Formats: sequence, C-alpha cells, structure tokens
Amino acid sequence: MIHVLLSDRLLFEPSHLTIEVKQEKSLELKITTREFRIDDFSAAVSIWEAAEGVEVAEGDSREEVHEYLLRNPGLSRVALDGETIVGAVLCGHDGRRGLIYHLAVAPGHNGKGIGRRLLQECIDGLRKAGIARALILVSGENAKGRAFWLRNGWEDVPGTIVMGLDV
Ligand SMILES: CC(C)(COP(=O)(O)OP(=O)(O)OC[C@H]1O[C@@H](n2cnc3c(N)ncnc32)[C@H](O)[C@@H]1OP(=O)(O)O)[C@@H](O)C(=O)NCCC(=O)NCCS
Repeated sequence: MIHVLLSDRLLFEPSHLTIEVKQEKSLELKITTREFRIDDFSAAVSIWEAAEGVEVAEGDSREEVHEYLLRNPGLSRVALDGETIVGAVLCGHDGRRGLIYHLAVAPGHNGKGIGRRLLQECIDGLRKAGIARALILVSGENAKGRAFWLRNGWEDVPGTIVMGLDV
C-alpha cells in the first residue's frame, strides 16, 4: 500500500503506488510567508510583546512602522498559519548595511523552522538589494536570542559597542 503523506496528513492513497514525502525539518506546509503589510501591525505587535527579548520601543508606532515598510519594500516579512500571523520580522537597510529587528515567532510555533525561514527571506531580500552585510542588535540579557543568531551563522562583532542618541 502506498501513502503520500505531507505534514502527517494523508493526501491521497493510490492503490498501486506508495510514496512517502518527508518534509524539511518539520516545517509544516500550511505555514506561508509574505511581505509584512501595515495591516499586519497589530498582530505583529502582539507577537513581539509576547516574545522574551524583543522590546517594543520608540520607532514602533503604527505610523513609524508604516514609514519603515515603505522605505524598505518587501524586506520585512510575516509567517502565517492559515490566516493567523505566527511570526514577524522587520528588515531594512541604509544603502550600506542591512538591519534586522524584532524577529519573533509566536509561542507554540517555535522550533518549526519559522524563525530561520523569515530570517533567510530577509537575507535574500538584502542580497537582492545589493547589501553585503547585515547587523542586529541583541540585548545583552537575551542569552537565548544570542544563541539563536549564533546557531544560524551570525557572529559576535568583537571590540564593538553600541551607542545611541535621541535626535
Ligand atoms: C529566536 C526565535 C525567533 C527562533 O524562532 P524559531 O522558529 O523557534 O526557530 P527555528 O525553528 O527557525 O530554529 C532554527 C534553528 O535555530 C535553532 N534555535 C532556535 N532557537 C534557538 C535558541 N534559543 N538557541 C539556540 N538555537 C536555537 C534551532 O534549533 C534550529 O537549528 P537547527 O535546525 O540547525 O537545529 C524564537 O525563539 C523567538 O521568537 N524568540 C523570542 C524573541 C527573540 O529572542 N528574538 C530574537 C531577538 S534578538
């Protein structure tokens, strides 16, 4: 008997053929991704607020995020489970360096490859925009977040400190 399985669901069962289709690292096929639209703002903020290690701060009002999306078309991404947003990330560049902010996946959807998929889409978008290097700011208290970035190929930048000024 041949079963064609996708994401643990039997899609069809031809009588004369058995094929098992294994998915890449448990990423369920019902997860889709697309460009972050401003209408996704409220859902994204809910995910960011629930995520340890992401601080919703200045620059994160609906109007400011809208401006950011317009300045960086297509680079920020969301992941959806059906119609529900389960992951979000802001991504942009200044013409020289890419910057990735607020990568977060909703509790309950961690460990399915969604964070990595969103991150890869950001990197692909930056590369297409001609950007050769990207940076992120990770809170010194976010050990888990730092471990995620290291696991996914990012490196510490020794000798660098981050400074800021309200302008
Ligand atoms: C960090 C976060 C976005 C990861 O998303 P996710 O969808 O759960 O992660 P993925 O399933 O895509 O994991 C991709 C890879 O990273 C690894 N990984 C995920 N979280 C990790 C962690 N905390 N430490 C080390 N590795 C981690 C996974 O094991 C996987 O690696 P492997 O397949 O090579 O074994 C998610 O845990 C989150 O929202 N955290 C809270 C917010 C946050 O800290 N964001 C980063 C701000 S700097």
